[in-house]
Amino acid sequence: MASVEVKNLSRSFGIYKALDDISVRFKDGGFYALLGPSGSGKTTLLRMIAGFDYPDTGHIEMNGESVERVPLEKRNIGMVFQNYALFPNMTVFDNVAFGLSVRGVAREEMRAKVMNALDLVQLGKLEGRKPHQLSGGQRQRVALARAIVINPRVLLLDEPLGALDKALRLDMQVELKRIQREIGITTVFVTHDQEEALTMADRIGLLKDGRLIEEGRPEDIYNCPKTLFAATFLGDANIFEGDWQDGDIMLADGRAVSVAAGRETQSGKIRCAVRPERIRIVSAEQPRLDNVLDGRIERRLFAGNSTTLFVNHNGREIRVGLPNTGSVSHDDGEAVTLTWSRESTIPVTAA
Ligand SMILES: Nc1ncnc2c1ncn2[C@@H]1O[C@H](COP(=O)(O)OP(=O)(O)OP(=O)(O)O)[C@@H](O)[C@H]1O
Ligand SMILES: [Mg+2]
Repeated sequence: MASVEVKNLSRSFGIYKALDDISVRFKDGGFYALLGPSGSGKTTLLRMIAGFDYPDTGHIEMNGESVERVPLEKRNIGMVFQNYALFPNMTVFDNVAFGLSVRGVAREEMRAKVMNALDLVQLGKLEGRKPHQLSGGQRQRVALARAIVINPRVLLLDEPLGALDKALRLDMQVELKRIQREIGITTVFVTHDQEEALTMADRIGLLKDGRLIEEGRPEDIYNCPKTLFAATFLGDANIFEGDWQDGDIMLADGRAVSVAAGRETQSGKIRCAVRPERIRIVSAEQPRLDNVLDGRIERRLFAGNSTTLFVNHNGREIRVGLPNTGSVSHDDGEAVTLTWSRESTIPVTAA
């Protein structure tokens, strides 16, 4: 197993900077999720770590040793590609065996290793099938088996679950996590699905325009985003902007919103994020938290386990996330009082 450290990595294609001074550490045995909009550089970063491409400047280290000029076959990294690229004319067995045969592994040993990898992804009985005879989830498992059969030091997964439907995706998330724990392999996982990143990863990195905007544990980055980008890209957030005055934001309509501690010395404009589920609706008798705003429900978005209410406060839309407990219901047009704590009002930088 190995830790991977990327230091000040940059890569341009012509005048376009696909990676811009990225520094990040992938801990030995850790599960790291990379998240970012399309074109933000996720695949480019993985390709660079695997050795399919080389950086213009910067370093890649595995277990402290520089590898950015080491060819890919010597890095011993398993990669599952964005479209998982199975060989259509080969059987499941031969697809998985591919990395071993190019390495000249002997027949008997190869057979044992391939069957071992197929058992790990629970495909032991399907070794003779061709990719078109498999479901999407099974193909995904073959790609995974192909990546781990070479006993890599690091596993790079580029949106491995992207093509799967929701139910299968949830199954595969559990499966992937089990496999990762079982073999204890350092894993870097690209996903478009924020929930997937939050539930699966020990750490999350957020990329935007080739830059690593923010990085940290899922709960920290979700609960206390430092940047506007993290607040709005990872989950939903209400953004309040205004003038900073003695620990409050003065909104344009003259109302004050109390802000979490830690920004006392700042002056001028300030921007804060409040997660929709941190806002409560209170009746006249119920106690209020630090912040109180009145509004009217404009519409509701039912999402099964929760409902988002879109509340209009003086022309501003505030989204409120309510768990679906079955005990209260709200109607469009209803006047409501919203309340939330100052601790839930997180100052964020503009980026
Ligand atoms: N070989 C290349 N030549 C020119 N431009 C490239 C090349 N590879 C990538 N790019 C550009 O670099 C940027 C980052 O691409 P990359 O594939 O890393 O994005 P991504 O984050 O993986 O996006 P997606 O989520 O859509 O897969 C894009 O703007 C892309 O067009
Ligand atoms: Mg990509």
